[in-house]
Amino acid sequence: MSRHFVIDGQRVPFEEGETVMDAALAAGVYIPHLCHNPEFQPHGSCRLCMVTVNGRHSAACITPAADGAEVENNSDTLMAQRRTLLQMLFVEGNHQCPACEKSGACQLQAVAYYCGMLAPELTHLYPKREVDASHPDVAIDFNRCILCELCVRASRDVDGKDVFAISGRGIGAHLVVNSESGKLGDSLFDAGDKAAHVCPVGAILFKHRGYDVPIGERLYDLEPISRVGDVAAQEEDYNG
Ligand code: SF4
Ligand code: FES
Repeated sequence: MSRHFVIDGQRVPFEEGETVMDAALAAGVYIPHLCHNPEFQPHGSCRLCMVTVNGRHSAACITPAADGAEVENNSDTLMAQRRTLLQMLFVEGNHQCPACEKSGACQLQAVAYYCGMLAPELTHLYPKREVDASHPDVAIDFNRCILCELCVRASRDVDGKDVFAISGRGIGAHLVVNSESGKLGDSLFDAGDKAAHVCPVGAILFKHRGYDVPIGERLYDLEPISRVGDVAAQEEDYNG
């Protein structure tokens, strides 16, 4: 008899060592997430993937699957909590979707649609952040960074370069570039790096290809994020 847990009434098989997130996604069950990418060690920071396991709140991306567990993913309470987390992300940065090249292919926007978030009820902080356009191929718009640390993990674990890091704590936490000037153009970063292809939002953007894919024909314009399957792989493909 294979091991399994039950998520919102659906039986999900799993292998030893898999997390609730791994097994759910493999079974085609979407759990909202932003900092999770199956190619990297789980990070557990965005908390979007919060579910209940046998009644206790747990982040699905870091919770080992357990035989016979009852997992709740789509309750009204969990979805309301996710909308609050999403609103916090929107107001802590400057996310002007209609003016963003990533609109329609942005996970933050797509998850917000999926969770039914409307206009944020929280006060916008409108932080003052720079855009770093010093690199010939890639620009960083820090206004849109959600501190998922995917670029940090990719640069450290795959590219072996440590180009990115998070500095500061709490509301003062921010992404920094590891170079003498602090500019991307002076770092070891290359457009072929893994770190160039993992940003789930419009913070790390390729230059010279704005609006190559027309609005209305982008990844999440065609399919809601819950039906895209391997979100990270599809997005990497889409971003080229
Ligand atoms: Fe995540 Fe993108 Fe910010 Fe890097 S730049 S931490 S990938 S949101
Ligand atoms: Fe689990 Fe971010 S996806 S905490």
